Parts: sequence; structure tokens; C-alpha cells
Amino acid sequence: MRAPAAPAAHAQQLLAQVEQFLGHPVPPVLAQALRTVPRHLFLPDRIWRGDGQGGYELCDRTVEPDRWLEAAYTDVSLVTQFTEGLPTSSASMPSMVLRTLLLASLHTLPSPLSVVEMGTATGFNAALLCTLLGDQAVTTIESDAALAKVGERNLHMAGYTPTVVRGDGAAGWPDRAPYDLILSTFSVDHLPPAWTAQTAQGGRILTPWNSAWCCYGTLEATTRDGSAQGRFHPFAAYMPMRRPRPTTPGPTTADHSTQHATTKLSPWAVAGGDLNTEFHIGLTVPGARFAWNASGSHAPVRLEVADTTGPSWATIDYDGHHGDRFAVTQAGPRPLWEEITAAYDRWLRLGRPSVEQHGLTVAPAGAHTHWVEVAGRRHTVRVSR
Ligand SMILES: C[S@@+](CC[C@H](N)C(=O)[O-])C[C@H]1O[C@@H](n2cnc3c(N)ncnc32)[C@H](O)[C@@H]1O
Repeated sequence: MRAPAAPAAHAQQLLAQVEQFLGHPVPPVLAQALRTVPRHLFLPDRIWRGDGQGGYELCDRTVEPDRWLEAAYTDVSLVTQFTEGLPTSSASMPSMVLRTLLLASLHTLPSPLSVVEMGTATGFNAALLCTLLGDQAVTTIESDAALAKVGERNLHMAGYTPTVVRGDGAAGWPDRAPYDLILSTFSVDHLPPAWTAQTAQGGRILTPWNSAWCCYGTLEATTRDGSAQGRFHPFAAYMPMRRPRPTTPGPTTADHSTQHATTKLSPWAVAGGDLNTEFHIGLTVPGARFAWNASGSHAPVRLEVADTTGPSWATIDYDGHHGDRFAVTQAGPRPLWEEITAAYDRWLRLGRPSVEQHGLTVAPAGAHTHWVEVAGRRHTVRVSR
């Protein structure tokens, strides 16, 4: 038996915030699902909200029950687990959950549908899927054993019985395949081959995307004959997929001499917050990440760039006076700043394409071709395995 619906005033408040964030009313069937599933039943006692300054503040139900309940029905993502200081699980922001469900157009598709959600976490999104499609239609996979157990318990206590699998979402769950929809709630930088293989002919994959440079965007791909093709939508920043721990590379013995140069490309142009630029650079300069250093210890402002797959690095310094030239220092086998400059120049040449102009085709053997569509013509910008 399902648990009683969410407290009416709280549910209404959440729905109003979601609609305000999305900028339009939510279709009645989704609004009803949001009213039906009591979000607070899926949350642990200790939850963390963003503090608006890049950090998190704890809200503990046993200490502040009213504030905790208020947070449960506020349109924010609530972190439920940290690992080595980084958030690794959360109850996603309800407006992002709804936006993804809208993109999935579940309510307009013929049933029965078979859906697999990647990343069960608290179970809240799986409960929404059960409400919309029926429990039989829903499989949900969580790699963290403790979270999978808690998610399944939450679902059962609230009266939902989807198939909960403890395992690596990258491998999918062949026992219940093929799926009409794979809906991921963690971000990926490639489509795991099992997802394409386990999606029905003409089925869809919806997944948040990430690169080392930029965690943003949602891929909507359709599968056919072992391949997948789709476009990116400009929303959502989800936690990255957990993978088996990589073996730490040993200290590099290669002698990478340091190179010095001057660049006219402003570091703010490539890392200043323009998501269209950063998305393009992330897709086309694999492994490169950045951090700003405004401590003043080296230069008034420094952009630090590093290769997450090797020893290369670069720094770009603003001297506090000249906005038209910046000092570049780089080392290692990859000339990172040249790669970033080339990616930025290509982005300009293509007419500053937005996230939605980017798309991906995955061949049956797994090769990923990233393209940008300009005036109806596709330009390949990267091919990878
Ligand atoms: C943002 S949370 C999911 C939110 C959730 N679906 C909800 O209802 O709000 C992402 C979850 O994905 C899980 N996850 C990350 N990598 C995974 C993987 N390779 N396989 C399965 N689950 C994974 C994390 O442990 C985390 O619980």
C-alpha cells in the first residue's frame, strides 16, 4: 500500500517553485506525481544544502525538524553522502527531475514501457517513475551497496516495488532488457556500450553529460541497430558516474621542460562561465580541467589547467593590468593551452554554437563521433572510442 501523499501545503509549495524555475506549468500528470510521492519519506535524517558559496550546510532532522521538512519540499538538491569530502549521492533538484521526465515524454508514450533508472540513491525518482508507469515497468540500479539497501527500503516503506539492483550501472541490467528508456541520474562522458545494447530498437537514452572541463548538458539519444544518435539539451549538472578506482599513475620520470609564451586568448573566454564555450572545450579537449587561483601567490589571477589523464599542465596569468595578453607556462607531452586555443578558435569559426547544436553518434562498435550542426550541416569535432 502506498504511503499517504506528501503534505498538501508542502507539495504545493514545491510544485510552485518547480514551475517558477522551469518557467511554465508542469503537465497535470507530472504535477500529480510530484504531489503523490512524499519526498520527505526518502530522505535521511542528515541532509546537506548548498550554502550559496560553493559549500554545504548540514540540516539534521533530529535537531531542526521543521527546517528539515522545509528543505525536503524546497526545489534544491540535497546531498545525502560525501566521500573524501566530495558529494557522491543526493536527492536531485526536483525541477531537474521533472525537466528530465518532461524530456522523456513518458506520459505520452504507449504502455507498457520498460524503464531503467541509473543511480537509485534515495529512491525518490524511482518512486515518481513507479507512479507514472507502474512498479512493474521500473528497474533502478545503484552501485553503492549501502545506498541501494536504503533506497530499496525507502521505496518499500512508501509502498513502491520496482526492481532495485545493486551493481554498476555502466553494465546495465540485462535480465530485464530491452528497455524503452534508460534514464541516468549520474553524468557520463561516454555512452557505456551496455546501454546501447540493452535499449530496444527505437528506444531512448537520457543522460546528463560531463567532461573534465564542464559538467553540464543532457544527452537525448535514440538507439537503432546497435548505434545511438542524439543531441544535447542545455540543462543539468549531475554527479559523475562512479567507476572502479583507477590505478594511480606512478611519479613520472620523464623530463618535461617548462615552456613560456604569451597568449592573446583571455582565460576568462574559455573558463569564465559561458557554458556554450566550456561545453565545447570539454567535449573536444578530453581530460583537461581547470581551476582559478586568485590567491595572488603567483599572479593577481591565474588559470590553472591540468590533464587528468597524464602529467601535462599549464598556467595562464593575468598581471592585473593587461587584458590583451597573458603569460602562459606549460609542461608535459600535451600542449594543453594550444589544444584549448584551437578548440576555442574552432568554436568561434563555427559561429559560437550553443549546447543544443552539439550532438553525438555512437557506432555499433562504440566509436563516438561528436558533431556540431550549423545551418543544417554537421561538422565532426571529435572522434573517440
Ligand atoms: C544524483 S544521485 C541520484 C539521484 C536519485 N536518482 C534521486 O532520486 O534523486 C546519483 C547516484 O548515482 C549513483 N551512481 C554513481 N555511479 C554509479 C554507477 N556506476 N552505477 C550505479 N549507480 C551509480 C551514486 O551512488 C548516486 O547515488
